Amino acid sequence: MRLSEETKVILLSYIMALARMKERAKRIAQRLRDVDEVLIVSHIDADGITSASIAYEALRRMGKEVEVEFVKQLEKKNIDDIDEEGYDLIWFTDLGSGQLTHLKGLNCVITDHHEPQGKAGEPPVEDRGNILSYSRQKISELNPHRHGIDGATELSGAGTTYLVAGELGDNSDLSKLAVIGAVGDLQASKKGRLIGKNRDILEEGVTGGYVKKKTDALLYGLESRPLPKVLEYASDPILPGLTGDENACINFLVDLDIPLKEDGEWRKWYQLSSDEKRKIMSSLAKKLLERGYSPRYVDELVGEVYSFPDEEVGSMLHEAKEFSTLLNSCGRYKKGEIGLNICIGNREEYLEEAKKMLKGHQQVLVDCMNYVESEGIIEKDYLQYFHGGDEVPDTVLGTVTGMILGSGDVDRSRPMIAFTVSEDRDGIKVSSRGTKRLVRNGLDLSKVMSRCSKELDGEGGGHDIAAGAFIPEGKEDEFLDKAEHMIKEQLEGR
Ligand code: C5P
Ligand code: C5P
Ligand code: ZN
Repeated sequence: MRLSEETKVILLSYIMALARMKERAKRIAQRLRDVDEVLIVSHIDADGITSASIAYEALRRMGKEVEVEFVKQLEKKNIDDIDEEGYDLIWFTDLGSGQLTHLKGLNCVITDHHEPQGKAGEPPVEDRGNILSYSRQKISELNPHRHGIDGATELSGAGTTYLVAGELGDNSDLSKLAVIGAVGDLQASKKGRLIGKNRDILEEGVTGGYVKKKTDALLYGLESRPLPKVLEYASDPILPGLTGDENACINFLVDLDIPLKEDGEWRKWYQLSSDEKRKIMSSLAKKLLERGYSPRYVDELVGEVYSFPDEEVGSMLHEAKEFSTLLNSCGRYKKGEIGLNICIGNREEYLEEAKKMLKGHQQVLVDCMNYVESEGIIEKDYLQYFHGGDEVPDTVLGTVTGMILGSGDVDRSRPMIAFTVSEDRDGIKVSSRGTKRLVRNGLDLSKVMSRCSKELDGEGGGHDIAAGAFIPEGKEDEFLDKAEHMIKEQLEGR
């Protein structure tokens, strides 16, 4: 095969980017090796919990003293609250790059994938010396955006942290956690595939026997949900005529002669024979095509599914989407440490507790979706929004915003912005979600959230496709005007 000159240049710059990231990971590993006591500070979602678990496990294997703290968001206030006393170094995972100015003076290393402060392509802080007046030695940052790799789709926080773990010792088994983090952050592309650097890590996991990839239905609950519920609760993608309609789902399966129960127990998707799966999928495809859905939509019902041979089938920990959902239900209710224990292999009471949290989490999401549907979505020219009042907890606002935008009931040509009253802080939590198409057309929600909130004395950041902020109460309308103006510029200014 002959490669075009253009492809050669792209390949070469990718290889160089990886080499530069490896150098940086080595430098961070050295700083960690040089100390005894480390405090890990991480984000509360599945990617944050797996990031912290990778960091924790890698350090623990070296005999270091390690503590972990989970935070909803890194903001000036909670950075001031971090007690450095007793630790030689702080390791921020899955956060930090968007808050570099607040970290000034802290002795820390960062492995993050959020859009960083400063220009994305700029060299990392350490190399810039005094330009931004950061102390040269104190902050060492590894972030894919600094090297031309997209932190929203090609490398998660857990993946970034895994690169450092790889320099600390033989930690290739932790590739499993990096896969869960990337899946939890919705980094898989259509067809379920992890791409970019995430994919290299996935392949490492497959080679080591820690991860298995197979082709299956891209639906949630393949191992944990009763068969009809997999269809009834399908939300990404929606199954028209089935999603939300229990009877329709049961009738659909009965019409196909699929036994629903075995020994009095609901059957699960993974227990179906290949023939039964094929029957269901082809009948689903037919149903969708008849209703006018495109062959592409139908094609996206099947794709790559990742699982872990060392976990028990049906335990919620065997398949990546289920594992990450379980972790999300811990972190979002201030129980990140339960998720961390599960990740590092402590099960029993932790797993029971996490499953209870999951039930609660799913109920909270249903209640929030109902509330938003009853209140309605308000459309502006360049965005749409809703206000969760004090009904939608701030910790699930982002998840709910993404679910609403993906629900099939709203226009997807405008980004979705959402507000809710923050639980334990005076102010308003903002979330925003876009689509891949909007991002291709210039949308960058991270910039919208950080700039518009800053102008109102708030803080914000994230990724081009999904970002958040915190603003003072009563400033919602002003924020919307600013955001609308900026989104218009992003989408029309190119
Ligand atoms: O803080 P963190 O980077 O871990 O979170 C990323 C967020 O972006 C997640 O809530 C994830 O669901 C969201 N996301 C999304 N759509 C994508 C990629 C990420 O909603 N395509
Ligand atoms: O909170 P939400 O899920 O909407 O956040 C979306 C993304 O924006 C996450 O990756 C989150 O870490 C990031 N974010 C941020 N700074 C904030 C709020 C959210 O970087 N103040
Ligand atoms: Zn993340």
